Amino acid sequence: MVNQVEVPVIDFAGLEGDQEQRKSVCWQVAEACQTWGFFQIMNHGINPELMKRAKQVSKEFFYLPDEEKTRIKVVPGNIRGWSHSKFTGATGDSKLIKPDTVEHLVLTQFPDNEESASRYPLNPPFYRATILEYAREMQTLHSKILSIMWEMLGLSAEQVEKIMYVKNITMRTNFYPLRKESDPPVGVCHPHSDPGGLTLLLADDVSGLQVKKDGRWVQVDPLPGAFIVNVGDASEIISNGTYKSVEHRGMPNQTQERLTIATFSGPLLEDEIGPLDEILSVENRPRYRSDIFGNYIRSFHRRGLDGKNGLDAYK
Ligand code: SIN
Ligand code: FE2
Repeated sequence: MVNQVEVPVIDFAGLEGDQEQRKSVCWQVAEACQTWGFFQIMNHGINPELMKRAKQVSKEFFYLPDEEKTRIKVVPGNIRGWSHSKFTGATGDSKLIKPDTVEHLVLTQFPDNEESASRYPLNPPFYRATILEYAREMQTLHSKILSIMWEMLGLSAEQVEKIMYVKNITMRTNFYPLRKESDPPVGVCHPHSDPGGLTLLLADDVSGLQVKKDGRWVQVDPLPGAFIVNVGDASEIISNGTYKSVEHRGMPNQTQERLTIATFSGPLLEDEIGPLDEILSVENRPRYRSDIFGNYIRSFHRRGLDGKNGLDAYK
């Protein structure tokens, strides 16, 4: 059952105000990360025209015929590209595939190297330039929110800098077409928590995201112009469980098609992730084991979208 409670909404306009207003925004962010692991932000400073263009080029891509999109389809061993069924993970293991109608386009923006560039669609022609422009803005917003989160744990500026994982920016764009009678009866982005540090979700104004809260699914109705923010597994681990990476799923809408663009920031594959020494004490012993992020993400992709099991395996 989906209940009626709503995720917190935080107005970032306060960050430009006086000290009291800024403090209030920081408290709200820390509180939301501890209780919900999810919140919406308004007045975040991202140009609405750029947000519109990012959605536009994404839709234009998904509207292309399958034969065209297949040129960049996901292949075993590489998560980047287009896929038209359940997220299969790097193994391409068919046992993990459950039938559904959602399409995904996964691409890495930063680091911007030849391999990630080669996975981009050539159509629509402005796709890559638009998405890279959008990703640069997103990177700044990720830094802004992560700084608040880590400062609120009492870390020094130097410590915050050390765990400011925004060099890796990857996007997953999810498209839920209107279901045809002949389509399978499911069309969800299966329950999962996000593996990285932080996710910023740009949704069109169609509801479909659901978040687990106290054992129940809560629907998130996107506010116009807002981003939906959520804590990822790496941040839960680094904060030793203070910040929560929460299970969520994406549902199709019954009457309208739906598009969401999730921008993930996270550690690089070689970064060592574990509960931060600075916040550990006799009362706050490490609740997760440390590992390089590459191992964490490989185990995530092997599992496919699998609730919180990936994170639980690190407890
Ligand atoms: C996701 O978690 O990436 C999907 C969320 C959604 O489409 O609402
Ligand atoms: Fe997600």
